[in-house]
Amino acid sequence: MAWADRPRCDQLPAWGQLRALSQSLKTGYDVRAALADDPGRVPRFSQQAPEVFADLSKNWIDAGIENALFDLAEQAGMPAHRDAMFAGERINNTEQRAVLHTLLRAPAGTPQATPDLDAALAEVHATLDAMLAYAERVRADGQITDIVNIGIGGSDLGPQMVVRALDAYAAPERRLHFVSNVDGHELDAVLRRLKPESSLFLIASKTFTTAETMANARSALAWFQREGGSDVARHFAALSSNVEAARAFGITNIFGFWDWVGGRYSLWSAIGLPIAIAIGAERFRELLAGAHAMDRHFREAPLQANLPARLGLLDVWYRNFLGFTSRSIAPYHSALARLPAYLQQLEMESNGKRVDRRGGALPYGTSPVLWGEPGTNGQHAYFQMLHQGTDVVPVEFIAVREATHSLPGHQSALLANALAQAQALMQGKPDAGGHRDFPGNRPSSFLLLQQLTPRSLGALVALQEHRVFTSGSVWGINSFDQWGVELGKVLAKDIEPRLASGDASGLDASTAGLLQRLRG
Ligand code: F6P
Repeated sequence: MAWADRPRCDQLPAWGQLRALSQSLKTGYDVRAALADDPGRVPRFSQQAPEVFADLSKNWIDAGIENALFDLAEQAGMPAHRDAMFAGERINNTEQRAVLHTLLRAPAGTPQATPDLDAALAEVHATLDAMLAYAERVRADGQITDIVNIGIGGSDLGPQMVVRALDAYAAPERRLHFVSNVDGHELDAVLRRLKPESSLFLIASKTFTTAETMANARSALAWFQREGGSDVARHFAALSSNVEAARAFGITNIFGFWDWVGGRYSLWSAIGLPIAIAIGAERFRELLAGAHAMDRHFREAPLQANLPARLGLLDVWYRNFLGFTSRSIAPYHSALARLPAYLQQLEMESNGKRVDRRGGALPYGTSPVLWGEPGTNGQHAYFQMLHQGTDVVPVEFIAVREATHSLPGHQSALLANALAQAQALMQGKPDAGGHRDFPGNRPSSFLLLQQLTPRSLGALVALQEHRVFTSGSVWGINSFDQWGVELGKVLAKDIEPRLASGDASGLDASTAGLLQRLRG
C-alpha cells in the first residue's frame, strides 16, 4: 500500500503497543540501571553511519521499544515513502512538487529511477559545474574581497551555517557576510565597511519575491550605484529558480535551481555558492559526497541499522509517548554555532504542522521545539534547567574528536565537558538532597565526528534531513510545504502603509493601539 493510503499512525497496531510500553516505562524507567544491567546496551544503541558515530544508549529506550518503533515505521509506510521521494514522485502534495534535494548530491551519471530523473541529474551537474567554475573565478579574482549573501530562511541559514562551520578551510583575506533581516541595521552595518569595486553581492532567493530579500537587494544596488559602482554584471549575481525575475532586477549572472528543491533543503544547490566561494569547488564536492553517502545509508540500510531512521523514530517516541516537547542541540564545536538555528528551520518548518497530508486535524503532537547553543557556553546559561528543571529535555550532543587548531589543552577540555555533561544528566547526584539534588536519568544522544570536514558536515546535515523526513512520514504530514509563513506576510503588507497613513480602520484594538504608538 502506498504511503498516502496508509491509516494515520495513531490507528496502527504498533502505536497501541508503544502506548502500552510507555505506560510501563513511565513508572520507574532508569537508564542508569539499564546501562548497568545490560552489557549489550551500548553496542545495541550505538552505530557508525557514514562519517557520524552515534551513541543512543543514554536514551529512555530499550530493544522492545525500538522494535515497536521499527514496526510503526513499516506500518506507516515510511520506507515506501522514502523510496517515492528518491524516485521523484510528487510527495509534496499541497504544491504538487517532487522532493529531490538528494539528486543534488548524486554523482554525475548515477542511474536514476526514470529517464526524466536521468535528465534532471544531467542538468544538476551542468549547473553545478557552471556554479563551481564561477566560484573559482571569484576566488581567483584578487579585487573581490567581500562577498555579501542577501537571502533569508533557507537562502541564508544553510549557507551561513556551513560557511561558518568550515571556516578552517577558507582563506582569511576573503570575507563572507550574510544579510537576511529587513532590519536595515544589518545591511547598513555591512555596507559601511565595503567598497563597490571589491564587493560581490549574491542575491539568494528561490522565488525572487521574498520581501526582505528584495528590499535588501534594492538597497544594496542603490548603495552600489550611489558609491560609484557601475559594473552590475560583475558585482551582482543571483541564485534563484525564478530566472525571469532575477533578469528583470538587472542581474545577468544567474545560477538557477528547480522547484523540487525546498528552501530549507537548498544549500546543496546554487544557494550553496557562498560556500563554494569560501571553501572552493573541490571541497564543495566533498560536502556533496558526504551528504550522498548518508543518502545511500538512509536508502539502503535496514531500519535496525539506519541512523536517520533510528533518530527520527526516537523523536516520535519522545514526542508522542513520553510527552517531551523540545530537544536541545548542544554542538561542542564553536564553528557549529549556527547549527541550532539551521536545524530549527529544518525541523520546525518541515514538521510544525497540525494537519495530515489530506488536511485532517491531527490528535497527536508533531515537531518538537528545537533550541541550543554551542558547548561549553550553554553550560553557563541554561544547562541549570536541563539538570534541575521540572521538564525533561532530551539533549543532542554533537562533538568533533580532532581540532583544526593547535592551542594546547583546549580540545581535551572541550571534549571532557561534552562527556561530563552527558554523564551528569544521566547519573545525577540524587543523594545530596534539596537544592544540590540532581535527579539524573535525563536522556541524551551523542553524535561524534572524527573531524569537522566538508565531507563529515555534509553527512551530518543529510542525517538531520532524513531524521526529519522519518518523523514527518510517520506523522503522515507533508514535511515539504510551509503554509504557516504566509499569513504574517500578508498582514505585514496591509500594515506597512498604515504606519504612514495612520489608518487603523478594521484593526483590532491592540494592533490599532500599538500602531498609533509606533507612529508617535
Ligand atoms: O518564509 C519562509 C520561506 O518561504 C522559507 O521556506 C524559505 O527558505 C525562505 O522563505 C526564503 O525564500 P526564498 O528563497 O524564496 O527567498
